Amino acid sequence: MEGEEWDELQRNLMATIPVYDRINRFATLGQVSRWRKMVREKLPQGRVLEIGCGPGSFAEDVVGRDLVCVDPIPEMLSTAEKRVNSARAERGDSPAEFVESTAEELPFEDGSFDAICSLFSFRDWYDKKAGLSESLRVLKPGAPIIIIDPAKINRLHGILGALWMRVWVGSYARIVCGVRDHPWKWLTKTYEEFGNTRDYVSMLQDVGFIDVEARVIFPGMATIWSARSP
Ligand SMILES: C[S@@+](CC[C@H](N)C(=O)[O-])C[C@H]1O[C@@H](n2cnc3c(N)ncnc32)[C@H](O)[C@@H]1O
Repeated sequence: MEGEEWDELQRNLMATIPVYDRINRFATLGQVSRWRKMVREKLPQGRVLEIGCGPGSFAEDVVGRDLVCVDPIPEMLSTAEKRVNSARAERGDSPAEFVESTAEELPFEDGSFDAICSLFSFRDWYDKKAGLSESLRVLKPGAPIIIIDPAKINRLHGILGALWMRVWVGSYARIVCGVRDHPWKWLTKTYEEFGNTRDYVSMLQDVGFIDVEARVIFPGMATIWSARSP
């Protein structure tokens, strides 16, 4: 993704903030909370990095870990910070740290995290291989990475998924946002450009991750990849 496209994507992502959770629940037929729980259950104790935290929908319920959240959009970070740190304060967890950055240039030391997760953000990374290499660099040896995003199983699956996004999700987004030119149009575009489940298994292996696994947990809407640093 080049400069202008990246700016356009950021503008559209920013516009999703007020309605993000509502439309996401609808798009996934309410399954998104279950998937987030699956990721949380895979997180070890220690220092955890979420890449692409958005408005904090996942981070809010990460309990008992030292949490660092990265996102390139300041408005996402400020929304997430309020939401996540008030939930953490109520539970007695230490405040999470919020850092404006991208996956491709993580401002952290080598081997400084016990786990990385990224939910519904990976498909937006403008250089996925660079982002995964950076993730590997900042993970401790043996530490896991867990990614969820809607990859396709094959071409037919991609066509059906695109229809789902355009018709089902697009119609609802138009009603909720009250405009024809709603930001989910752009998210449909990133969905269509995203590759197959296996493409990213190979990419994880190519950058040096081991024990790479992928599982389609909801056809068209969610694949979960997991891997470990060697
Ligand atoms: C759809 S939100 C995901 C929110 C949250 N993780 C969740 O579970 O719903 C995707 C986020 O990824 C961020 N993002 C996009 N490109 C990124 C990149 N290259 N590096 C890090 N984050 C990125 C966007 O700014 C956006 O806030």
